[in-house]
Amino acid sequence: MQIAAARFLRWMPGSMLVNGDELVIEGWALGLWDMPSRVLVNGLDAVDVTWRVPSPDVLAKFGAVPNAEASRFSARFRMPPGQMLFPGGFARVNVTGAFGEHRLSYRTAWYLADPALEPGAPAPARIARVIGAPDVNAFRLGGATIVKRFEQLLLERFGRPMSSFESILDWGCGAGRLTRYLTMLAPEVTGADIDADNIQACRQILQKGRFVHVGLRPPCSLPADAFDLVLGVSVLTHLDREMESEWLAELNRLTRPGALLLLSVQGLAQMALYDAPTSQKIDMHQRGFVDQGINSQLKDVVADQEYYRNILHSPDYIMTHWSRFFDVLDIIEGMAGNQDLVILRRH
Ligand SMILES: C[S@@+](CC[C@H](N)C(=O)[O-])C[C@H]1O[C@@H](n2cnc3c(N)ncnc32)[C@H](O)[C@@H]1O
Repeated sequence: MQIAAARFLRWMPGSMLVNGDELVIEGWALGLWDMPSRVLVNGLDAVDVTWRVPSPDVLAKFGAVPNAEASRFSARFRMPPGQMLFPGGFARVNVTGAFGEHRLSYRTAWYLADPALEPGAPAPARIARVIGAPDVNAFRLGGATIVKRFEQLLLERFGRPMSSFESILDWGCGAGRLTRYLTMLAPEVTGADIDADNIQACRQILQKGRFVHVGLRPPCSLPADAFDLVLGVSVLTHLDREMESEWLAELNRLTRPGALLLLSVQGLAQMALYDAPTSQKIDMHQRGFVDQGINSQLKDVVADQEYYRNILHSPDYIMTHWSRFFDVLDIIEGMAGNQDLVILRRH
């Protein structure tokens, strides 16, 4: 499981700090088929890179991966004269082998938005409800990364810039982690969530976007055929089978024929990061859909304490069950932050 996960989770930033015209990055990087040897910012090499810093924490998670005991690094990037650190509003940071980036490198890149363009931050408790910790830097880095990876995926796969979608739904938008960056790239973005408090916070903090509170069970107040792109990051990872079917049917109602949906699920990369035992992975593959029980993160904002759960899906389950509602075009590991991404199309 560790080696399978490391194929898709090449590296993780611990922190990225902007300091004037410098970016200071520290994190860890795993080497399986080639050793990480370059830290690139917008395709340019960072300086003062220190590799092979001892990493007992990474060893504890990835002990089967070669060199996991010394996989931490630090690097400093200084902007060359005449260049922008945030071209188009975002810096792209990547760790690669000696040959640098290639066409699909966006899938392992992490993206940082220009601090000057960032809207205000939600309160720590609101952030914790969606990412499990009150960490504003992780909230921003994760949100910008997922949105920019999705943007590149839509271009690579469908030749579609984000701005070409007429109407985008960020389903389960939470505290607006994705919505705040989506609105920088596309004109019409709607965020919808069962968490009324976070919906209210999004309305207050974010200048752009429309925010809609939805009930636990569909139908919601949004009209049929309203959207040509839906993002749902870590939403179906929390609904039981019955709710999953009801909401997939509702997403079918809300979307236009040909619409694309990008929905994330928990895969090997996240299971490895969460120290899931191998038996859990086997269980997931054997049973297809595993309900691990109640997740209490929404206990203060949702009346039904059993609604929000922790769910694992196998690729086989997704292909057989979700295809009742949509064409399942692909499942890409480790694309949605650390979760796997299911690409669906409304027929
Ligand atoms: C793990 S959080 C992720 C939030 C956001 N997508 C992100 O990536 O930051 C899951 C979110 O889904 C919301 N949610 C759960 N069930 C939902 C449903 N049936 N419809 C809309 N939102 C839902 C929760 O309230 C929560 O905000």
